Amino acid sequence: MQDGSFAILPEKESNFENKNYKRIGALLSYTFEKNSLEITGENGYLSLLFYRDDIVRIIMNPNTFPSRQTSLAVVMEPDQLNIIITENKDEILLKSNKLSIKINKQPLLLSISDDNGRVIVEDAPNGMASNKQKEVICFKKMEADDHFYGFGEKTSFLDKRGEKMTMWNTDIYAPHNPEIDALYQSIPYFLTIRQGKAHGIFLDNTSKTVFDMKTSNEDYFFKADTGQLDYYVFAGPKPKDVLEQYTAITGKMPLPPKWALGYHQSRYSYKNEQEVRELVQNFKDRDIPLDAIYLDIHYMDGYRVFTFDEDRFPNPRQLVQDLKEEGIHVVPIVDPGVKEDPEYFVYQEGIRNNQFCKYLDGQVYHGDVWPGNSAFPDFTSEKIRKWWGENHNFYTDLGIEGIWNDMNEPSVFNETKTMDVKVMHENDGDPKTHRELHNIYGMLMGKATYEGLKQNLNGNRPFLLTRAGYAGVQRYATVWTGDNRSFWEHLQMALPMCMNLGMSGIPFCGPDVGGFAHDSNGQLLTRWTQFGTFTPYFRNHCELNSVHQEPWSFGEEYENIIKKYIQERYVWLPYIYTLFQEASILGVPVMRPLVMEYPNDENTLNLSDQFMIGSDLLIAPILTPDTYHRVVYLPKGNWINYWTNEELKGGKHHLVEAAIDILPIFVKKGSIITQGTVKSSTEAKERKLTVHVYPEEEKPSIFRYYEDDGQSFAYENGDYFECVFKASLKERSLDITVDVEHSQYQPEWEEIEILIHGVDSDMNNILNGKIQDGIEHVTDETTRIIIASQNIFTVNN
Ligand code: GLC
Repeated sequence: MQDGSFAILPEKESNFENKNYKRIGALLSYTFEKNSLEITGENGYLSLLFYRDDIVRIIMNPNTFPSRQTSLAVVMEPDQLNIIITENKDEILLKSNKLSIKINKQPLLLSISDDNGRVIVEDAPNGMASNKQKEVICFKKMEADDHFYGFGEKTSFLDKRGEKMTMWNTDIYAPHNPEIDALYQSIPYFLTIRQGKAHGIFLDNTSKTVFDMKTSNEDYFFKADTGQLDYYVFAGPKPKDVLEQYTAITGKMPLPPKWALGYHQSRYSYKNEQEVRELVQNFKDRDIPLDAIYLDIHYMDGYRVFTFDEDRFPNPRQLVQDLKEEGIHVVPIVDPGVKEDPEYFVYQEGIRNNQFCKYLDGQVYHGDVWPGNSAFPDFTSEKIRKWWGENHNFYTDLGIEGIWNDMNEPSVFNETKTMDVKVMHENDGDPKTHRELHNIYGMLMGKATYEGLKQNLNGNRPFLLTRAGYAGVQRYATVWTGDNRSFWEHLQMALPMCMNLGMSGIPFCGPDVGGFAHDSNGQLLTRWTQFGTFTPYFRNHCELNSVHQEPWSFGEEYENIIKKYIQERYVWLPYIYTLFQEASILGVPVMRPLVMEYPNDENTLNLSDQFMIGSDLLIAPILTPDTYHRVVYLPKGNWINYWTNEELKGGKHHLVEAAIDILPIFVKKGSIITQGTVKSSTEAKERKLTVHVYPEEEKPSIFRYYEDDGQSFAYENGDYFECVFKASLKERSLDITVDVEHSQYQPEWEEIEILIHGVDSDMNNILNGKIQDGIEHVTDETTRIIIASQNIFTVNN
């Protein structure tokens, strides 16, 4: 955004001709080998390389044969595949088991179809092109019913059709509004829904990229400032397939420690030990669960990372230990800027060992951030990442297991908001400018930090929070959406933003609950906390000069409701944790838009104010002030109001009541959900697992439940518990089974309570073929069965 009419100077008109793009032209020659095709065109070179039957990589380089080097986003090597090539006068045809690529020779244009012959990605007449300014661009045909999702962290609504978006990691304090599209994260990837089917594209380019789904109705384009036009096409056909395909290329989120999923409290800043201890005491006295407290920049000595201010925090080790005994983790902030101070060991080490970003002539780049003039580690080098990671033993030796990375776009207090783009990064022996690598800098800081923590934590899972990121950031960090404000509009915006982060392979994300800047208030914090109960990441955080927004800050009435919803988070954790495990295996998000589950339902295409947790739970928060009802769309099927057990017909909109203490929650009829109990933190023992069964005639309800120790990597060696709950309702007979599929870990709970909703009292409840004695009718509509946990393990025999 630019102030003043200068922004619309006639010379600034931007179109294909003005930009002097040159199309790639005709095909001149080609070679084919195994799973790849190399083409020489009139004005450029093209490589097509299959990674899997359902994933193809396409690289266009205007000047030379494409390099197969990828950015560090990519973790997959191409599979060995059997690709068939055929040719006629006008076309070459490449075929895998899932994709066919038609290559038109004159001009060189691509058309990609899936195994049903459905064209998914097709070059528009301008196809691939480049210009002397080193830009590379690609135009694709857009169908009338194309809808676009993903693109990482973007403002505005869910469906990005009609948006033009820039990817350039930027520290934007204000405003976050529809005009600001370059925020802290750059995920140059999107998923298209076309007539209920999905496919995806990932442009692996770490310079500035632009996606224009707005200017024309016939085509869209994506382009990069410099580098190769290097993109992957994912075949789909279901939205979840695209996520699996994209995360096969860019990696999956590792299973986080359970404490990272609890409620977290932060403020810029809790300034000294006493304040932190009082805060914890307050949570205890008020019986509000808490898993983590954050230390913002004031904990440091003059904002020097890897230090504590001796006056404010005289004994961090004791503090961390004491809090740990209360089940609370301490998460300090670590920014990339290292204070220029010849007497400061991190600065000394960085300078002595050549570890800071520098210009081509060797001069170290310095920029202003919180500590004043600072140097920035060159995270593009493995050696330097290792140095940075190892430095974290400063924190882990104190018992710290979580770190918060901020300002890692990198943010610099100057006109451009970032590092000089002329800085030359080391990039593991393949030097590149900051212009070329800007968007991956923050993620590489995350990689350094996560790997360093992991190495230091003796088998415990690290937790890392990051503001900046690039595709693949999910492998290292949780993403929070930066400096939002205590506006209802920002609560509204957080839904599509987090849903699209989830659609971009980042399942673990959330906004600052209550809003970061400006002053929150009781009603806003209450509604925001209700929403936060179900955001994958749940942290209340606010800025220096704003009013306090801890749960009790706005009086008892609000406090009680806020407390109830923080407690609800803990009740829902056994369900949420299973979904996290699913996300770590399949890449599908925990919090998801309805369109992911119901892509054929037009009502879901741009549904931005309600979402799903997994496949069966629908959440419709209140997002405006003084509002005690709202419209909720329920897709086809039958739905149960979680609070009242009232049954509602799907396939239509409903007006639902939502007093200030009600977050509208709906459970799909025919499903099973698992819940735990209210706890002071995730460290407390889970004594009972409650299984809610919402049976539906003729449709078996199934839930695969996962559990492990929640803190170590032992699950990777099989130390986990997995069982499948199943309920079938047929002719007034309900058959419930519990199949333990894996029990190398023994869950903590001592009993399972099965609550069957919506069935008459004369219904037979049969558990794994045995009628249970302990059946109790709680209400006419709900039946309870209690089973001791040891019986779950023997019930199969
Ligand atoms: C940035 C972060 C914010 C943090 C502040 C001080 O604005 O986005 O969360 O509190 O810096 O470190």
